[in-house]
Order: sequence, then structure tokens, then C-alpha cells
Amino acid sequence: MCPQFAVLPDEYRTADENDLIKRIQARKAELGKKLLILTHHYQRVEVVQMGDKVGDSYGLAKIAANSPDAETIAYCGVHFMAEAADILTAPNQKVYLANPTAGCPMADMAPASKVYEAWNHIDSILGKNKVVPISYMNTTADLKAFTGKNGGLICTSSNADAAFKWAFDRFEKLFFFPDQHLGRNTAKKYGVPKKQVVLYDTRKPGGGIEENALKKAKVILWHGHCYVHTKFKPEHIDLWREKNPKIKIVVHPECIEEVVDKADAVGSTSFIVKYCEEAPPGSVIAVGTELNLIHRMAVTHTDKKIYELAGDTCPVCSNMFRTTLADLCFTLENPEKATRIIVPDEIKKDARTALERMLEIGR
Ligand code: 13P
Ligand code: SF4
Repeated sequence: MCPQFAVLPDEYRTADENDLIKRIQARKAELGKKLLILTHHYQRVEVVQMGDKVGDSYGLAKIAANSPDAETIAYCGVHFMAEAADILTAPNQKVYLANPTAGCPMADMAPASKVYEAWNHIDSILGKNKVVPISYMNTTADLKAFTGKNGGLICTSSNADAAFKWAFDRFEKLFFFPDQHLGRNTAKKYGVPKKQVVLYDTRKPGGGIEENALKKAKVILWHGHCYVHTKFKPEHIDLWREKNPKIKIVVHPECIEEVVDKADAVGSTSFIVKYCEEAPPGSVIAVGTELNLIHRMAVTHTDKKIYELAGDTCPVCSNMFRTTLADLCFTLENPEKATRIIVPDEIKKDARTALERMLEIGR
């Protein structure tokens, strides 16, 4: 959940962009290696330019875990990402979320109490130790702790395949939350038959799954989704291909199954960045992910044509877009007033176990 509303002092809201850049640079020069600014690929271009590292949620978690000198980590991303950084760093390292209102609506689709309720119900039908939780990175810290405590692990879009293998090597069934699409796409890739993939919908009695179907299921999905990635439809791909049969389509695995099936390539934000970087000059690529990243790639790779896949929608993650240079500058100049993300110790321990299992499987 987004922790609070915050309004920046006018001095920051009305500051000139060049002034903010100079002030951010001054704080960076002053703090040196003690400061680490992490920026997710979906951040505004000017924010990415001020960062020390840009990456996907896996890459940034790993960087945080391996940066012991960084006493201050300023995270330009969303809440669950900053929580993961706090879980993976030492107590003397302080993690700040540059804009405290930046949450992830998909993560909010899995309130911990509802997940525990579903888990208890599933357990009561299947019996103990049959099913293991796999939590997508896009979840709150308490669900990461729940996952660690119950023998499971965290995954991101870059290592969901490896997480499925890890889990199926140890357990018969997986309980995957909150993104049904990443879960469904990964199950399909893993070869799990469609009828053994079920959707647990807490709004329906018994999750909306017949007891027999639950017993036969291999993968139990939560009913969450990303409102940005579900904007893309297979028709968008058909239209591009009609116009240009040579076009390449690359999409994020949070897209629906029918879109993933039609794409040339599927992967995390870092995968998409690499795909566009490595495409030969002259390539024409339509990308199914967040608009700020697509725009940044389009202006960077002037030797290629990079387009947004949908055209008739506007796939912006408004939570990622909230973070501005003013937020970053405020955070660096006023750490005592900025939003520090502190995951309580009792949650941290098990959440860390689940995240470390993820880092061990790599990507
Ligand atoms: P990545 O892990 O691919 O960066 O994705 C995070 C995310 O929230 C995508 O919507
Ligand atoms: Fe969450 Fe979707 Fe935004 Fe990613 S793009 S942070 S999943 S709302």
C-alpha cells in the first residue's frame, strides 16, 4: 500500500529543472560512495539520468544487496522495490523511496489477510507440504515473509522460469501471486497443462475452484494483474504485422497469454532493453511495456525504429511516473523529512530468506 500522501514544499515544486539537477549533483559529489541512487527502467528519463544505476526489479535488488558502502539508498521506483532493498541491506543502510506515494496497484491486489485466508483454505483441502508459495517481487514485505516462512521464494519477471523449476523440484504444486498473467505464461512455458492451472478468486466461495479441480491443479494463480500490461491485445500485434511483416514484437510477461503467444520475444524490462540494444541497425520493433521505457529507447536508438505496441492506449505506469527530480532532490537534501522505508525486523528475517532464495537461483 502507498504509505501516505506527501506534498513537496513549494521551493521544490516550483524549482527550475537545471537548478534541481545542480543540487542533486552537488549532493552526489558530497556523499560519494555513501550514496546510491537506484532508478527503475520505467522512471522519467531525467530521473534515470541522475541515477547511479538503472535496472529491472531483480537487477536493482541485487545491486542493493551488494552495495555495503551505500549508507543512503535513494530509490526511484515503487514501494515494494524499496522494501526489498531495505530487507536485503544491513541495518546501518537507510533506504528512501523518493516519492512516498508510488505504490503498485498489482501488489495492492494481494492484501496479506486475503492471501493467508486462501492459503489456509488451500492447505485444508490439499494437506500440508503439498503446495509452496511463489511470490512475485510485486508484493508487500509481509507476503515475502509469509513466502519465506512457508518454504517458498520470490521471483521477478526475469527469473520466474527458474523459480518454477526450483519449486517443482521440491513440491507438487505452486501457489503463485499476485500476477495471474506472469504465472499463467510461466506455467505454459514450463509445460503445465492448461487444465492444471487454476485461478483462485477470493471474491468467490472456495476461490471459485471446485475441490476436485484444486486437487488436480499444479499451479494455483492469484487473480491479480497489471493495468498497464493488460492494455495490450493480440490485435495490436496483428495490426503491426499487417503493416510491416518484418517487424519484431517484444513484450513483458505481465501481458496476457494471447499477446505473449504472438510476440517474437518476452522478458523483463532489462531483457527488453537488451533486445532493443542488440537488434541490428534498421530494425523496426514494437514494444509491449511501459511508455517511459519505450520512449527512452526510441530516442536513444536513432538507428532503429522503436514503437509502443498498442497505439490506441497510453501504457503509462502513473505510480512510476510520480517520481520527479524535485522528489529526488528533496530526499537527498532532507533525509530527516524524506520517506525512509523500514521493514520491521520480525518481517525482515523470513522475507530475506525468500529473497535470498531468489538471488541464489539467479536469472
Ligand atoms: P521488471 O522486474 O521487469 O523490471 O518489472 C517490474 C514491473 O513492475 C513491471 O511492471
Ligand atoms: Fe505495478 Fe504495473 Fe506499474 Fe509495474 S507497471 S509497477 S506491475 S502497476
